[in-house]
Amino acid sequence: MFPWFLLATTLVVIICIYYVINTITKKVYKQNTPKGALPPIYSGWMPWLGCGLEFGKSPLTFIELMRQKYGPVYTLKVAGERMTFLTDPEDFHIFFRSVNVDFQKAVQNAVQNVASVTEHAFFRNHTKIHDTVKGRLAVSRLPAIGQDLFSEMKGHLLMINAPKMLKSGGESKISAELSQVVRSTMYKAVMNNLFGAELLRTGHEEKFKELEKYFVTFDDQFEYGARLPGIFLREWSTSKKWLLDLFRSITAKCLKNIPEDAAKQNLLQSLLSVVDAEYAPNWALLLLWASLANAIPITFWTLCLIYSHPEVLAKLRTEVEPVMKDLKNIVFFLNLFFRLVSDVTLGQMPYTRQCILEAIRLRSPGIITRRVVQEFTVKGFNVPAGDLLMVSPFWAHRNPKHFPEPDKFEPERWDSLDKNSFPDEFIAFGGGRYQCPGRWFALMEMQMYVSLFVNMFNCELLQGVPDVCPLHLVGTQQPVHSCPVVLTRRNAS
Ligand code: HEM
Repeated sequence: MFPWFLLATTLVVIICIYYVINTITKKVYKQNTPKGALPPIYSGWMPWLGCGLEFGKSPLTFIELMRQKYGPVYTLKVAGERMTFLTDPEDFHIFFRSVNVDFQKAVQNAVQNVASVTEHAFFRNHTKIHDTVKGRLAVSRLPAIGQDLFSEMKGHLLMINAPKMLKSGGESKISAELSQVVRSTMYKAVMNNLFGAELLRTGHEEKFKELEKYFVTFDDQFEYGARLPGIFLREWSTSKKWLLDLFRSITAKCLKNIPEDAAKQNLLQSLLSVVDAEYAPNWALLLLWASLANAIPITFWTLCLIYSHPEVLAKLRTEVEPVMKDLKNIVFFLNLFFRLVSDVTLGQMPYTRQCILEAIRLRSPGIITRRVVQEFTVKGFNVPAGDLLMVSPFWAHRNPKHFPEPDKFEPERWDSLDKNSFPDEFIAFGGGRYQCPGRWFALMEMQMYVSLFVNMFNCELLQGVPDVCPLHLVGTQQPVHSCPVVLTRRNAS
């Protein structure tokens, strides 16, 4: 009898102590937590879906309308998620630097949906992959990568009037769709450069067309693939499967031939040398997507904007032509040739870079995202843990305080730009620990392509610059319709 009584009394005492400690802790926590309301919320009218239907119709314009209605911090309820938007650039430091928000927890689920990387494999591999890509594509490594890339691009651009590729409207006039021209020439050059020459069979026209077809579908619906189960997206799921199968066969072969000297590895080989073999094909697919999905549309937009602004084109050519002429004249003096190509890559053509930055500013990703892991306060509102935190580079770059006459294409606004950094208000490449690791490579490849293109071609935009399609939030913007052009080869090339 006695031991039972003792046990019961002990239990009661433990429960009382726990209760007292718990009450005190809650009180202290309450005192230390700044009081504030939740941000204004728009939940729509549908249970669970929230404002999903209105949001889905035109997400890019919807988020800006909501800012105008609710102010600089607001929440949308969409498909069971609370999405809180920060729209004042003064608050972006929270998004990029605060310990209360987390990049990996925001993107893990999307990565699982688009590339079937499990949660465990994601957290085991993500940081080391990020750091590997960042190291491999660091500014100091670019001159070495750039020499091959430049020659590849020029080769593919010279093939542009091959009769099979485009309908020829005469000897030197070529009717084409501009994004298709940019895509097919740039895909080949970038794939060969980052993944290894001919690994993806870019020289085999039929095989390349097949790869291009599946990749374009995968890319087009990537955003939906990140959120919806595959059964709702049959075409997209087929493309994903085809691409994963391709990478399964490629990575199995590649894993046997990775050079030990890291300096001799291409990007894919560097990735394969750090990642768990089981998920190597999945990560390789993600890397292919990251390296093509944003830079190629921006190259397209840069050309559209340049050719629709004759004064910009003229100024650009005065910068580009002498450099290209020198390159042509001294092609046999290899050392000088390499030095000059490096100079091209590293910013000896500042106006070309300014044009590209201006196009990126105007066609930036609709949103980037973080997960709130610890409640924080902003502008007097408490943002609770669990929310998806959103910032829109596209709309931030239209803030007239930082970008006067924001809708104008004006490369001169980047005149005083420092070569290797961006102003705080420019967030197209994200920021913080997981900022885009391919950003310097992206600028280099776009600079090479644009300078080669304007030197080689006149380009008439038959229907002007297409509008931005308001349906995409993830990644850089897509045109709402095609962009037919007539290309004419220039004597200068
Ligand atoms: C105009 C071109 C590009 C733009 C605008 C862009 C933009 C971005 C943005 C906004 C992010 C997310 C960063 C964040 O949330 O803070 C990102 C991530 C990433 N980007 Fe880029 N990017 C571009 C080109 C490239 C290229 C050419 C590569 C590779 C060759 C690349 C590789 C990556 C990778 C691997 C990530 C994921 C990083 C991680 O998960 O840690 N990007 N990019």
